[in-house]
Amino acid sequence: MKTMLNRFHPKRPDWYEEFFASVMDTSMKAYEAEISGYKLQLFGNLRGKANKILEIGIGTGPNLKYYTGDTTVNVIGIDPNRKMEKYAQAAALAAGLPSTNFNFIQAVAEALPLSDASVDAVVGTLVLCSVEDADMTLQEVKRVLKPGGVYVFVEHVAAKDGTFPRFVQGVLDPLQQTIADGCHLTRETGKTISAAGFTRVDINTANLSSASPIFPHVYGVASK
Ligand SMILES: C[S@@+](CC[C@H](N)C(=O)[O-])C[C@H]1O[C@@H](n2cnc3c(N)ncnc32)[C@H](O)[C@@H]1O
Repeated sequence: MKTMLNRFHPKRPDWYEEFFASVMDTSMKAYEAEISGYKLQLFGNLRGKANKILEIGIGTGPNLKYYTGDTTVNVIGIDPNRKMEKYAQAAALAAGLPSTNFNFIQAVAEALPLSDASVDAVVGTLVLCSVEDADMTLQEVKRVLKPGGVYVFVEHVAAKDGTFPRFVQGVLDPLQQTIADGCHLTRETGKTISAAGFTRVDINTANLSSASPIFPHVYGVASK
């Protein structure tokens, strides 16, 4: 597992990992407020149906509050950046998730440390922009999902070809990768998810005013 971690997410300096984790923790509030309506609707698909949830690239854990409801869920969050753990643990606590029901594992999405067909749902938000290999990640997502399980996603994608925003994204892309731990602005992730071999993909687009230059967003549910 360590080999795969180093292959797909070579160790960054400690100060950089801490810096990125604290920036994610403090700078995403306006974005999270704006996307909350979409997330409420999306994660409604999991309430009462998904008992075991895997979140890939969980970061500081902004989605954990959407999982808790009447029933107690078990959540595994994976992320290569160990400095995200304390923020994710705090978010789990704030969401009312018992500590025995939340596990943070340092790992990459290209090599998930879970058995085949072992989870009811996989969640990923703003992650396929950052993984080294999005195709491999989606094959792993399908592998660990139980038959009939769902992959719930929110991802930012490249703006339409030939537009000014797409030009700006092309210019800013190298800088974005440097300051935002490998995040790419120009991936066509909606197409990648649609082509990944799920039995059904419901995909929608959203334009969020708080997210420039990371827009538009695609969000939806893919079923195994
Ligand atoms: C932009 S942040 C999004 C975090 C969180 N999902 C959210 O919505 O705020 C991208 C996250 O993906 C993680 N990441 C980067 N490469 C990864 C990989 N290969 N596998 C899994 N997660 C990865 C980063 O450490 C970071 O926490």
